Amino acid sequence: MKAPFRMDRRGFLALAGAGAAGLALPSGLALSSGFAAFARAAEAPPSELRIQAARYRLRDAVTENMVSVFPDAPPPVLRMREGVPFSIDVTNALEEASTMHWHGIRVPNEMDGVPYLTQWPIQQGETWRYSYTPKDAGTYWYHPHCQTMEQMARGLTGIIVVAETDDPGFDGETVLNLHDFRIGKDDQFMKLFSARSAARGGTLGTVMTANWEQNPVYEHPAGSLVRLRIAATDTTRIYTLTIDGAEGRIVAADGHPLREELPWPTAEAPITVAPGQRLDVALRMPDTAGRDVVVTYRTPMRTQALATLRATGSNLGRTLDELRPLQPNRLAHFDEASSEIIELVFGWSPDGLKPNNGFCGSFGYTFWSIDRKPWPGDAAKGTEPVADLKLGRSYVLRLRNESPNMHPIHLHGLVFRPLRSNKRTLPSNWTDTVVLNRSETIDIGLVADNPGDWAFHCHVIEHQKTGLAGFVRVG
Ligand code: C2O
Ligand code: CU
Ligand code: CU
Repeated sequence: MKAPFRMDRRGFLALAGAGAAGLALPSGLALSSGFAAFARAAEAPPSELRIQAARYRLRDAVTENMVSVFPDAPPPVLRMREGVPFSIDVTNALEEASTMHWHGIRVPNEMDGVPYLTQWPIQQGETWRYSYTPKDAGTYWYHPHCQTMEQMARGLTGIIVVAETDDPGFDGETVLNLHDFRIGKDDQFMKLFSARSAARGGTLGTVMTANWEQNPVYEHPAGSLVRLRIAATDTTRIYTLTIDGAEGRIVAADGHPLREELPWPTAEAPITVAPGQRLDVALRMPDTAGRDVVVTYRTPMRTQALATLRATGSNLGRTLDELRPLQPNRLAHFDEASSEIIELVFGWSPDGLKPNNGFCGSFGYTFWSIDRKPWPGDAAKGTEPVADLKLGRSYVLRLRNESPNMHPIHLHGLVFRPLRSNKRTLPSNWTDTVVLNRSETIDIGLVADNPGDWAFHCHVIEHQKTGLAGFVRVG
């Protein structure tokens, strides 16, 4: 494959400002954001994702040993349409096994990309075809589920946009893939994790990026309506964000239009976006050219700009009320009255268990468990589901965190919504990933309407890979 065409940064920024429409490709698969977008838009659309080593200038020097699905550029945004079949070949050009998972998309079980549970690992040189029809519009993402720590920490995470049938009427779009890289002063990868951190909150990266850039700038017409899609694809960091300098509202979370409103984030109360989670934001760009909207990471210790949207040209004078509301995705009706309650505890593992190591990588130690049963390794035979659900029935899963750490708990293949917490009021929005705070118990409601074995794990990858994983069986 040809090396991507490089254009100077200014030319690229102008292009990024054109929004999604200008980059759409005929096949329904398109790219946006990044130098690759320009290169790909000018070429034939890809029918293949080729997992391969990459190098990229994240900071000063070029970082080697990154992983992408495009030569020396970030993984592209994949564009699909609600209800329209999608198919892609994933080829593994690395010297270790891999698979691809479509986070949040309700796919048939055999398309879910979980090694040993739903498919064999894709070995070096092999190709695996994934075909499914996305049922739900919204923002999703893709990442490997084999050698997950190695490949995700080195960059293999990409965003999926599933477009609505009814166009809500935005003038433009920016997609932000938030991801940290753990690189040293020489800009090369350091040890990706430590056992000490894996047993606690996880190992943080050193450079915060959006679309593999530090605070990239995307231009949009002044006074225009922009859909900002944010996905937290880091292996560890729980982002707390504000969106400064614009009028806006949050319109969807984790793919799904909101059932209950989420407050606009403020410096006092930033919004949490944990590994795996997404936000769709409707923004109105400032009236004056040159004014910036800044997506900011905020903690009591640190304030950092992650990405900037810059107003350009004369004022389009649009208003947020002109947007058509997003239509809810077609989800089964959850019936709490008929629900069986299943309790699951998330916490420490019994001592001394050594995980089984297949082709998909193991840290060699176990710290965490679901219901005191640590995941014995991807390739372990005879693993039992943590819950056995009957197809079509409603369930309440009572998730109890007995540890002091936060765990973004993710379920494949199904959607659920939080019903209540013992610690806070939680809006009951449909999701695939919910954060369990320290000593928190959350009841979630779901309808078991997709048959198969569905991975269920913490999305802090160090927790997932040291025991905090399992699966739910629907049959
Ligand atoms: Cu985002 Cu099991 O994964
Ligand atoms: Cu997933
Ligand atoms: Cu965790």
